[in-house]
Amino acid sequence: MVKSERIPLALVKTPTRFVLPESEIPTHWYNVAADFSEPLPPPLHPGTKKPITIEDIRAIFPENLVRQEMSAERWIEIPEEVRAIYTLWRPTPLLRAVRLERALQTPAHIYYKYEGGSPAGSHKPNTAVPQAFYNRQAGVKRLATETGAGQWGASLALACRLFGLECRVYMVSVSYHQKPYRKLLMQTWGATVFPSPSDQTEFGRRLRRENPESPGSLGIAISEAIEDTLKTKDTKYALGSVLNHVCLHQTVIGQETIRQMEMAGEEPDVVIGCVGGGSNFAGIAFPFIRRKLAEKRATRIVAVEPNACASLTKGALRYDFGDTAMTTPLLMMHTLGHDFVPPKIHAGGLRYHGMAPLVSHAVKLGLAEAAAYPQTKVFEAAMLFAQTEGIVPAPEPAHAIRAAVDEALRAKEEGKKRVILFNLCGHGMLDLASYDAFLGGRLADV
Ligand SMILES: Cc1ncc(COP(=O)(O)O)c(C=O)c1O
Repeated sequence: MVKSERIPLALVKTPTRFVLPESEIPTHWYNVAADFSEPLPPPLHPGTKKPITIEDIRAIFPENLVRQEMSAERWIEIPEEVRAIYTLWRPTPLLRAVRLERALQTPAHIYYKYEGGSPAGSHKPNTAVPQAFYNRQAGVKRLATETGAGQWGASLALACRLFGLECRVYMVSVSYHQKPYRKLLMQTWGATVFPSPSDQTEFGRRLRRENPESPGSLGIAISEAIEDTLKTKDTKYALGSVLNHVCLHQTVIGQETIRQMEMAGEEPDVVIGCVGGGSNFAGIAFPFIRRKLAEKRATRIVAVEPNACASLTKGALRYDFGDTAMTTPLLMMHTLGHDFVPPKIHAGGLRYHGMAPLVSHAVKLGLAEAAAYPQTKVFEAAMLFAQTEGIVPAPEPAHAIRAAVDEALRAKEEGKKRVILFNLCGHGMLDLASYDAFLGGRLADV
């Protein structure tokens, strides 16, 4: 528990909130693939093992999004209609966590970009909206998807509602039961939600016969959503992370942050994001990586994952399937194996066996590093953050908070000022059952 005390005047006077006007919403997304010194290995057709073509995946994704997925352009224009919807929550604020700094007695300055103010409560609408836009432009009527903690499913449900599309969501069974309010959020926006493995697909029925208690995983839910897509007319599949176009859409986060750090008059020494499939990390990190490459800056970039599902720190970098049923193209990524079913940790959004190829490549090229934490340590940091800064973080970005706190404590030990930036990519108001488990001493490390 943090000791409460009167806040000193100097602290009250420190600027803590950096806000941009609507006109500063970025006009383009940034494609880091254009700047890598070594090209990103292409996705392969699982049969021929040759690079996939647009025709190979036309059944799953609309052509306009596949072209974006394969694009080598550095900057891709954001459609006006998408920018107009972004104004509902963008630009998002950058804050300086002065009360957390004080509690840690650190000389470090800690900044966080807050994405939890979107209607769905996380960064996921940044890509849900353009994905629904491009699908509607291509004449698609219905989208099928997976969701872990429910943040992505909720975001796509909202985006589909805004563009008049039907939405079907396969929600990982353990999260369906742990986080019922996100399911209700999806239903409020008009989506149909099934616990995965479900009785809706051949694959789901087989898994339920083999293990009626299966907690599910993102890999399984992706397989179900793809099977649904392939057998239903006018339907396409949408993915909430991992793929290049998803990482691309999230780069609005980092671009805004660079402007806001300028307003704060500071330059981050270290940029931190949690990683499930890699998209919020990509969003904050890739624009900083661009500057690292173009301007030879020494910024450290850190991706933080759970010990229980540590693809970057414990997985192998190799071609693997993006889903459990082996229906997706093969992706060159850090992976724990497509059949890995992660333990039931509370950060449901981080329970994915693989890592975005773009993030994997950035780590391989030495542009980013990785760290892993057990969930009890993560929740300790989340509690400290909630008690100092007020916002109750989602369990996923609580991983980034843990790493930021450790960086700040290291700065204290070394007696050095350090500027630390992390992405607070979602609030935890619908994850309070996880806090209940932590407060009740029932949260275990796995
Ligand atoms: C709040 C939040 N953060 C992080 C993640 C992890 O996904 P990604 O690595 O794509 O940002 C999720 C996934 O559902 C999420 O809901």
